[in-house]
Amino acid sequence: MSYRPIRKAVFPVAGLGTRFLPATKSVPKELLPVVDRPLIQYAVDEAREAGIEQMIFVTGRGKGAIEDYFDMAYEAEATQRERGKDLSALEGTRLSPGNAVFLRQQEPLGLGHAIWCARDIVGDEPFAILLPDEFMKGAPGRGCLKQMVEAYDKVGGNLVCALEVPMADTPSYGVIDPGARDGALTEVKGLVEKPAPGTAPSNLILPGRYILQPEVMKILETQEKGAGGEIQLTDAMASMIGSQPFHGVTFDGRRFDCGSKAGYIEANLALALDREDLGDHIREFALAELGVSGIAAAA
Ligand code: G1P
Repeated sequence: MSYRPIRKAVFPVAGLGTRFLPATKSVPKELLPVVDRPLIQYAVDEAREAGIEQMIFVTGRGKGAIEDYFDMAYEAEATQRERGKDLSALEGTRLSPGNAVFLRQQEPLGLGHAIWCARDIVGDEPFAILLPDEFMKGAPGRGCLKQMVEAYDKVGGNLVCALEVPMADTPSYGVIDPGARDGALTEVKGLVEKPAPGTAPSNLILPGRYILQPEVMKILETQEKGAGGEIQLTDAMASMIGSQPFHGVTFDGRRFDCGSKAGYIEANLALALDREDLGDHIREFALAELGVSGIAAAA
């Protein structure tokens, strides 16, 4: 069976990033680098790899630098070119003309409200959502959204990425009430946003990747506030369960919660260790910091 293709992705980037103050006082958190690429770039690359054609950014006040980031860097490009320098570092940073949309969420009313702000641009077709501070690192060519689109091509409907975490962490996330599991696919019987400690239906959380049918926008339109007094995407999705297919997809890869300092530093370390130009140096440095000599560690 063939389902309508996923051509559009929404990136909610209006959040204030208070956990990273003062770094985020004048720089959007989505532009903080992991090694040398901003977080938002990894999410856009992931979307592009999954076949997304139109990138929709829901921004807010003080986030204009994101729009500039995806534009042509005229001065940098001209200077590099004049000096005969390589421009490959800028690859993929300019979005195709007409394929990027920036709109604003004027008030921080919740993730569901941010998504709803994109309703007219999304229109009547299924779409993806990527939360850029959740950094999902797959094998080359095997990004998280790509894996989800492959699953979508088999089952259609709505899909969320599903990730196992320690039970004690569940109150910070949207949590799945799981049904039958078949390989990487788990039936979603229910969803709850930020359950009180000890009440989560499972330890399968939503790490910020979604493929949703456009009907979710209609639900968000009239939705009451949920957890934390915010309009929650999780609540809107929960009310579609039963009337449309709903599955969780287990991602084959690593997830770094770059909304937290620890996760952000872990992502930097993991990516630096993976890099040909940095890996050996960083490994030596980290081992020395820990008081382990390279020879001892290798033995
Ligand atoms: C949001 C979602 C939550 C999801 C989380 C992933 O919460 O509401 O369902 O699990 O992102 O990071 P937030 O972190 O914005 O509170």
